[in-house]
Parts: sequence; C-alpha cells; structure tokens
Amino acid sequence: MRHIYTAWLCFALGVNISAASQPPQAAIATAHPVATEAGLEILAAGGNAFDAAVGVSATLAVVEPYSSGIGGGGFWLLHREADSLQVMIDGREKAPLAASRTMYQDAKGKVVPGLSVDGALAAGIPGEPAALVHIAETYGKLPLSRSLAPAIRAARNGFKVTPHYRRMAKFRLKALRTSPAAAEVFLLHNAVPPLGHHIKQPDLANTLQALANQGRAGFYQGKVAKQLLSGVKSAGGIWGVQDFEQYEVMERTPVNGKYRGYRIVSAPPPSSGGVALVTILNILEKYRLKSLTSLQRQHVIVEAMRRAYRDRAEYLGDPDFVDVPVKQLIDKNHAAQWQRSISLKQATPSNSLGQVADTSGGNHTTHFSILDKAGNRVAATLSINYPFGSCFMPPGTGVLLNDEMDDFSAKPGVPNVYGLVGAEANAIAPGKRMLSSMSPTFIEGQQGIAILGTPGGSRIITMVLLAGLGYTEGLDAEAMVRLPRFHHQYLPDKIFYEPEAISDQQRTHLQAMGHELKALQQPYGNMQVVIWDKQANRVSAASDPRGEGKALLH
Ligand code: DON
Repeated sequence: MRHIYTAWLCFALGVNISAASQPPQAAIATAHPVATEAGLEILAAGGNAFDAAVGVSATLAVVEPYSSGIGGGGFWLLHREADSLQVMIDGREKAPLAASRTMYQDAKGKVVPGLSVDGALAAGIPGEPAALVHIAETYGKLPLSRSLAPAIRAARNGFKVTPHYRRMAKFRLKALRTSPAAAEVFLLHNAVPPLGHHIKQPDLANTLQALANQGRAGFYQGKVAKQLLSGVKSAGGIWGVQDFEQYEVMERTPVNGKYRGYRIVSAPPPSSGGVALVTILNILEKYRLKSLTSLQRQHVIVEAMRRAYRDRAEYLGDPDFVDVPVKQLIDKNHAAQWQRSISLKQATPSNSLGQVADTSGGNHTTHFSILDKAGNRVAATLSINYPFGSCFMPPGTGVLLNDEMDDFSAKPGVPNVYGLVGAEANAIAPGKRMLSSMSPTFIEGQQGIAILGTPGGSRIITMVLLAGLGYTEGLDAEAMVRLPRFHHQYLPDKIFYEPEAISDQQRTHLQAMGHELKALQQPYGNMQVVIWDKQANRVSAASDPRGEGKALLH
C-alpha cells in the first residue's frame, strides 16, 4: 500500500520514480557458508545490516580461524540509509606500548626472520572485540548477546575441516605446533586434521560469551584479559594492562572519489586502500578505457597501479601518528601529473619514478558484504594477517593472536611477508596502527550500488579496482568475482597475473612495450560482492569461485 501511495505521490509531483528507494531483498556474501547463514539468522531475528555484520564477523572468527578473529582486527565500512551516514569503523590492531622501532632487529640491526610473524611477539593489540561492541551499541538494533549467539554456538558445536582449512593448517603446521593451546584446537594429534573432522572451540565459546555478557570488559578486563596478558608474557610477548585500557576504536571518514559519474567510498588510512584506489581511478579517468584495445587497456591500468603504489610506499601510515596527505593524493591535479608521465607505447620503469615494494596474495584475511532491506550496508575486511595469524594462543582463552605487527616496516627497505617495504610513515611506534591494504568499498552510481572487497595482501587494492571498473562497465556480481586478475605494485617492477587475465599474444606485446610479466600458478583473492540495482529493483550477490564462500538473498 505504502509503495502505491509513494508511486502516486511521485507521479503527482513529477518525480522520477524509476529508482527504488529500498532494496526488495537483503543479501549477504561471506567467505564461509556458516557465517552467511549466521548473518541471515540475525536479519530474520529483526537485526539490521550492522547487527548482521557483528554476527558474521564473530562467526568468521570461529569458522575461518586462519583468516580473521577476535585476536585480530579489521575495517567495517558502514552506510546507514536513514541519514546517509557513511563511516569506517577502524578496529585495526595497535603496536603494544612497549614496542619499539627496532624490536624485530638483532644487535647488528638485521631483521630477525620470523620474529614479526610467529609467536607472541608478533601480535598487535586486538581491535575486533572492541569494534564489535562499538558497532552493536552504536548502530545495531539487537543486543550484542543476540548477535554473538550464532558464533558461540558454532564454537561449541564445531565446524567441519575443508580442503582450504587443510591447506592453511599444513602451511602453518610448524608454528601451530609450537603453541600447545593452538595445536590442541586446530590440529589432531599434532597433525593436520582430516577432511570433515569437527573443530570445536569451547574456550573461544567462553570468551565470546564473556564479551556477550560484559561487552568490552569481557575481553579487555577481568579473567580473559588476565589470561591473555599472562599467556603473552610467558611466551616472550610484551603486552601490558595499559594496552588493553587504552585500545580505542576509531570512527573515520571514508575516502571519497569520483569516477565517470560513480562515487567511490573506501577505506581511509590506516588503510592505503581507498587512497590508492581513488588515485588509480583518477589517473584512468583520462582514458576512454572502453575504446582502447585490450592491450592498451592493460597497459594503462598497470601504469596507473604502478604510480599509486609508489605513493603508498612513501606517504601512507597511521594518520594518528603521521601526516598523510590524503587530500593532495586523491586530488585530480595529482593524477594529472601522473598522467603526463604515462606513455601509451612504453612501460615506465619503476626505478625511474623513485624507490620501494613485492607481495604474495592469498585468501587468508576475509571480507564480507551485507545489504539489508532498509538499504543499510556493510563492507568489512578483517584480518589476523598471515594464515592462523601468529599461531600463538594464550592458554585458556581460545583466542588465536594476530601477527599484524608484520604489516609495519621492521626496517626501512626490508620487505615483510608480502614483500612490501615501507618508509618512515609506517615505522613501528608504541600505540601506532600498522599500515593496511584492506579496502572495503562501496561504488555508488545512478544505476545502483555495489558493496565489495577481498583479502589478498597488497593485491587487495588492484582486485577491488578491476572488479570496480567492471561494475562501472556493466558487469554483474557474478562476473565481478570471476574476473581474471592482474596486478602491479611499483616494485618489484612486474605484472603478476592469473593465466586467464593475459593471453600469450598480449604477453608478447606487453613485453615488447618493456613490461616484465609473471604468471601466477595459484589463483588469488576471495571477493564477496553484493549489488543493489536500483533501476531494475533487483538485488544480487556473489562469492568468489576461488574460495569456499556463499552468497545468499533474504
Ligand atoms: O592489512 C593488511 O593489508 C594485511 N594484513 C592483509 C593480509 C591479507 O589480506 C592476507 N591475505 N592473503
């Protein structure tokens, strides 16, 4: 009835009514079917997209222990339809207050391999528990305890080991074996568990229950906090009571850009994602991509990527510690300068642009996208960094700790696990957030909106870019997640690509233009997309075929 009235009123007032004002369905795309179901359960219980985001985040923490968790952090990009508020909840880990610039170097100033990756010293102060409480209290409709219920249930009842779980556990087997509590939960008799084996996490269920009952205090104070702190200390870590008292969630204004009639809304610092994405699109705007040959298109996209990643290496870091010139970097004039240095015929050698970064991508870390029927939306990318994070679990807590400290630059010019090197802006300092590439993003146009993101280390940004360009050119959700991927990140000066992304003939031509190429043996990324087509009044969602996720409408 309301719709008929609205339609009549719009007609009478001469308003364009072709665009729907509310989505006909809700949609959730996550990296794990159990998490997608958990989100739908929360929506069915009367929750909004933000409640569902809390439920999905906590459930992913349980069923994808190699990707994210309450021992880690993340970024939740929110859009509240009622007042069009857009905000990014920054629950990124922070360096402990006892951290120091050279903490991962030996007496001779050499970075000690593994120290920022394996074990208690590699862990930043977790932000996810505080972020979930903040999102539930500030934006949700349901009590935190309701939204956490599916995760607690999954932790008690267990989830089934999948092929991907086995790959990740095999990769991190050695490190997992060094933490008896982690080995007890994630291995079977100290070995990779077989397919179908149930992973039960009673300690994690209790910790989540404490969070549900007491909010923030359930994690950062009291029994759980004591166990976390003493566990970390006895394993050589440096967390203190003050770290827990001082951890704060930040609400940050998203990076905003414009590209050919679309609005790009993405993650601001301490993520490099939004700035790099908008810089690349600003550079590309000059070119009529659709009228270029596919070879020219690949070339200019690569050249734009190269330049944005050079900016990333030099300028990006925690905005609470360093001045990040976001406005200048995403200004069209800055892009115009970069455009002038691009030749349509020749690759620009990266070393002719100055110094810096390599990577490997994957599908640890996780992303989900949610749209509810009121039009509220969430794009969230969450991480404990490496598969199974630091592999260290303080006994009795069920909390697997992150190794996000490795996202700092341990020493200028020395690469991290993703091959990324950084400079002053991303040096370690007490209480500082480490630079991220996580890029939860909205793309908003006349036609509708897309909610997207993916894991994949420094390749996150270029995956979001390619899918985003696809969206502006008419691709649907399924085609966006399937799109073959290629990547350039300034240094090493190479195009990395999935074999289907570049043909042999294109490869030969690109080489002739001066590009170096490396075909990847493994596909990368795990993208989750939700689209609300306002003109067609249709919602669709898709989960990356490279992963084990699921997208559902409600
Ligand atoms: O915040 C970051 O940029 C990284 N910690 C993300 C790591 C990641 O995506 C791993 N996935 N392959």
